[in-house]
Amino acid sequence: MRVLGISGSLSQGSRTSRLIAHVLAAAGQHAGVDTELLEVSERRLVFCDGRRPELYEGDTRAVIDLVAAADAYVVGSPIYRGSVTGAFKNLFDLLPNEALRGKPVGLLATGGSDHHFLAIEHQLRPLLSFFRAYTIPGAVYAHNAHFQGDRLDETIAEQCRLLGDEIVRLAHALGGRGAGPAYPTIERKPGERA
Ligand SMILES: Cc1cc2nc3c(=O)[nH]c(=O)nc-3n(C[C@H](O)[C@H](O)[C@H](O)COP(=O)(O)O)c2cc1C
Repeated sequence: MRVLGISGSLSQGSRTSRLIAHVLAAAGQHAGVDTELLEVSERRLVFCDGRRPELYEGDTRAVIDLVAAADAYVVGSPIYRGSVTGAFKNLFDLLPNEALRGKPVGLLATGGSDHHFLAIEHQLRPLLSFFRAYTIPGAVYAHNAHFQGDRLDETIAEQCRLLGDEIVRLAHALGGRGAGPAYPTIERKPGERA
């Protein structure tokens, strides 16, 4: 099983990526689980321009394929302006509709304060619901007070471990099947499939 971490931060020394790495470390403790971290800051993604996903080239094409090939995910973004970063959203705009269908996804976000913790519920979760992914109930949200230099708040570290375990547990329970009833098909452009 391949669990992919997706970090939507473009900053150096990203706290979001650090938390995702914790979740991946916990998931990777389980037998048969490989993990990988995809950081949008390290890839050269073009902006989604509405073309069909298979028509992108280069790094953009490689990232689309990498995401589609994974079995489970932990996705995270810094909160920017009460929502995810533009870079994070752009990656999801590039993906084919079926890329995450029926797969488990853990959610995570970091912010400057606790003011925007519910952005996980009204920004991140609906985005993953579009893809008909199974999001893990509960999520990790950390803010400035949880990071003291290199030290991470132990409650947050424990939440990361739990999230990693739950992603693997749900992936096993699903056994690669099922995504519930289909939504109506959404075309990228009239006459073009998604
Ligand atoms: C452009 C910008 C907008 C931000 N907007 C918010 C916000 O709306 N709410 C919040 O809690 N933090 C906000 N922050 C703070 C970041 O979410 C926070 O520092 C985060 O932990 C950075 O994560 P990173 O280290 O992974 O990049 C903002 C930061 C930037 C640079």
